[in-house]
Amino acid sequence: MDEHLINIINKLQDTLAPLGGGSQSPIDLPQITVVGSQSSGKSSVLENIVGRDFLPRGTGIVTRRPLVLQLINRRGANTDGEAKRSNDLLDLDAAHSTKDLENSSQKEDNSEEWGEFLHLPGKKFFNFNEIRQEIEAETDRTTGKKLGISPVPINLRIYSPHVLTLTLVDLPGLTKVPVGDQPHDIERQIKSMLLTYISKPNAIILSVNPANSDLANSDGLKLAKEVDPEGKRTIGVLTKVDLMDRGTDVVDILAGRVIPLRYGYIPVINRGQKDIEMNKTIRDALKDEAQFFENHDAYRSKSAYCGTPYLAKKLNSILLHHIKQKLPEIKDKIEKALKKFRNELIELGPEGMDSPNSIVLNMITDFTKEYVGILDGEAKDLSSQEL
Ligand code: GDP
Ligand code: NA
Ligand code: MG
Repeated sequence: MDEHLINIINKLQDTLAPLGGGSQSPIDLPQITVVGSQSSGKSSVLENIVGRDFLPRGTGIVTRRPLVLQLINRRGANTDGEAKRSNDLLDLDAAHSTKDLENSSQKEDNSEEWGEFLHLPGKKFFNFNEIRQEIEAETDRTTGKKLGISPVPINLRIYSPHVLTLTLVDLPGLTKVPVGDQPHDIERQIKSMLLTYISKPNAIILSVNPANSDLANSDGLKLAKEVDPEGKRTIGVLTKVDLMDRGTDVVDILAGRVIPLRYGYIPVINRGQKDIEMNKTIRDALKDEAQFFENHDAYRSKSAYCGTPYLAKKLNSILLHHIKQKLPEIKDKIEKALKKFRNELIELGPEGMDSPNSIVLNMITDFTKEYVGILDGEAKDLSSQEL
């Protein structure tokens, strides 16, 4: 059912795109934002969710400007409008089983997925390594090479048949002591940068915390609580579970006995620094992650609730919940659009038959016939569904 709804939503975005004027999405989907201390694994988590290698990651302050990443669903040339498999970025099985991922870092060129930067209009990046290089170069262009930071975002769009049209934001991590060219008040500057993004009511906050340091010291969690005190849009992510001291685990945190969060915490394992240097693929990383949780005494019994695929599932269900709440608004938009186009056509008279208006009107009419009933049905299903 879930995949189905996401396909409908992507179709709806396509259908209504001509009405919205450019890139403006007719459905105000949540933005997924990360917050956490420096090197807690924020960029790694986002990258695993998207399923592509393209974000600068590493020890120290690597992410020094916000990266606003717009994923845009674009049906492949040979899929004739019907997604042959789930085109949901948050369905990792589908996203990660594409052929090009198998020999990931070597051969990433393919014509159905590409990136485009706002600062380089018209230039398509088919090679995701080059996307990473451009993010790094563009970061330096504004901040200088000496580890400076800047609140000026880098805007990147990724077009792919395998993603849900959605925005993710990668952000610098919280840090206290200035290094290199960083301003003396770096802590305050980064905080205010993060607040700009996580205060938005439609932001889903991924509060990323390394499992090998004390949760009570987490500045990221503190900041998330400031803007979302009831935890209605915060998900806890525990990274580096593989690096915990022998004999320690995150079971108490998962059980809500440390700092409870409404949506709870999800433990994940990203690629370590060595893995990055050895070009370990996301696919291999996900395999190892699953094995770790399945074979670990503390997590074996709950391994279904551990790891990146479960995090993706959880995000998915929050998205569906959001869409459900927006359905009345969406239907309203469709009806208004129908009315507007009908009236314009009446004014045009017989000559309007082949006009772009008429084509759009037909699209919307078809869409409404086919899907609005389903959307209603989905809404009913969803309202009884636990997140
Ligand atoms: P960010 O600064 O929060 O964006 O963190 P990054 O994603 O850049 O990761 C910082 C460093 O931690 C990198 O060297 C990663 O390889 C490493 N890292 C992140 N997550 C994990 C993890 O779950 N396990 C291990 N072993 N290393 C991780
Ligand atoms: Na880092
Ligand atoms: Mg980062």
